[in-house]
Amino acid sequence: MESLTPENMKSLMNVSLGTVKADLVIRGGDLVNVYSGELLKGFSVAIKGKRIAYVGPDANHTIGLETKVLDASGSVLVPGFIDGHAHMINYASPNEFLRYAIKGGTTTIVTEIMELAFTSGYEGLVDWLDKVREQPIKIFSTVPPCITFSRAAREKTPTLEQLMELLKREEVLGVGEGFWQEVLRGKTKYPALAAEALKLRKSVEGHAAGCRSERLVAYAGFGVSSCHESVSAEEVVEKLRLGIWVMIREGSIRRELDAVSKIKNINLDFRRMTLVSDGVNPRDLVKNGYMETVVQRAIDVGFDPILAIQMVTLNVAEHFGLDAILGGIAPGRYADIVIIPDLQTIKAQCVLSNGQIIVQDGGLRVEPNVVPLTVQGPEEIRVNPSDFVIKANGNGPLKVRVIEQLTGLVTREVFCDLSPDHGELTVDLENDLLKVAFIVGQEKIFTGLISGHGLKTGAIATSGVWEASGTVVVGADEGDMAKAVNRVYEMGGGIVLYANGRIQAEIELSIGGIMSSLAIETVAQELANLQEKAETLGFRFSDAPLTLATLTTPAIPFLRLSEAGLVDVRNGDVVEFIVS
Ligand SMILES: [Fe+2]
Repeated sequence: MESLTPENMKSLMNVSLGTVKADLVIRGGDLVNVYSGELLKGFSVAIKGKRIAYVGPDANHTIGLETKVLDASGSVLVPGFIDGHAHMINYASPNEFLRYAIKGGTTTIVTEIMELAFTSGYEGLVDWLDKVREQPIKIFSTVPPCITFSRAAREKTPTLEQLMELLKREEVLGVGEGFWQEVLRGKTKYPALAAEALKLRKSVEGHAAGCRSERLVAYAGFGVSSCHESVSAEEVVEKLRLGIWVMIREGSIRRELDAVSKIKNINLDFRRMTLVSDGVNPRDLVKNGYMETVVQRAIDVGFDPILAIQMVTLNVAEHFGLDAILGGIAPGRYADIVIIPDLQTIKAQCVLSNGQIIVQDGGLRVEPNVVPLTVQGPEEIRVNPSDFVIKANGNGPLKVRVIEQLTGLVTREVFCDLSPDHGELTVDLENDLLKVAFIVGQEKIFTGLISGHGLKTGAIATSGVWEASGTVVVGADEGDMAKAVNRVYEMGGGIVLYANGRIQAEIELSIGGIMSSLAIETVAQELANLQEKAETLGFRFSDAPLTLATLTTPAIPFLRLSEAGLVDVRNGDVVEFIVS
């Protein structure tokens, strides 16, 4: 990003007064003024370089012989969309992600980058920040507080001093999401980072899933400035009242717009409400698009179109203190503009970013730059079926703690009385009891039991796991589990479904075990193929890689995996697998 210099300002002034001519004029569209909440009929915008010089009913005085004129009559001009909470590292490489993200009118992304901290530490974060800069749209990041249940991942993460150093960078807008349970337990770097962020006038991103009443108030006291986890209008109100910006999530992980849409009928100030994706996977991105779909959905569930647009433009810019340069069509701001047919139809006819036309007639005019990341993958190993054997003594029943998968994301703890078979605890397919393992290195493998997945045969493994670095495998057979895991490592990372003596589906994630080097369309296709095959084999949830990936996260209740064993999200402790 470039700061406005006094020379730039003078140049914008001269264009505005007509003494210097504009580079580009958009003429004759209706303009959404996100500051006043009005639709202004027949307005024009004059652009000099990357910035807006003039906005008004008539820009003819800014047009010279060299000025390019874009006729927008009959269309509507809105500011470029901002995703205020993204996870760009979502199977596809950043440049492949951008090819589709840009198309629909998103011109700024604020992304979490914790995935890199767990795989590649400080160097991984610096690598990202250095290399992702030069793109047709603006990309900002947040510094991750690096909250994990995996000791191996924790050892890789940067020191507090290193994270503090990264916070100072211009393209870093604040501290990334800090899961409230761990923050309140006082075990994280989050408070120190939050204090530093506030000193730097930067944001402190929160994650208050299920956090209410006194605990929410206590959490807000850490300077938490946003939360994207509200699932009802009541939660939205509670957070708005505490001064927390509410980011309504509508993405691949969860979609909350429908559930929270009641909020629109309550007479509240919505300046602190925004719409975010919290990550969109390649399948959804290629098929449905990005923030334009979210705005459209908001309108479809009954939000006023201008409010829906404010929630992905000005409100987000204000949250991050960027509204002097982004988030509205006004003088001095970056010329980030989307032309749509009408206020009810969020479909980009033309997208301008930094004063340049980057999308026209549905096609990209400027390709994103390749981002040559050097992400370290998980340590390469070979596993054997015997690595997944669960040894247990005695013949009588043992009380065993089992992960029960309730939804595609949420698990709970159940206790089962199981009798060892020849000194081993085994799968019980009739009762939907499968094995689950987390593998970090040859010596760091934990195998437990999981119910609810429904797989009747075979195994699914993925190296694309949350808040950790390693491979999660779920399977009905130790041999298939080993085959799936070894194939993941052979590819340098990936997702594999192995069953009936062969690989049924696979996706290469050779960039650090978390991103693919393949075209996003191919990744999307292969993810869909894997899901279809997994369901044929009995898998019950709608996104198998996501369900497996989240088994290592501290962010979602209740029982999770680490290389040291099962972890109870309620207290953050490793708990016994065989209880008695
Ligand atoms: Fe997130």
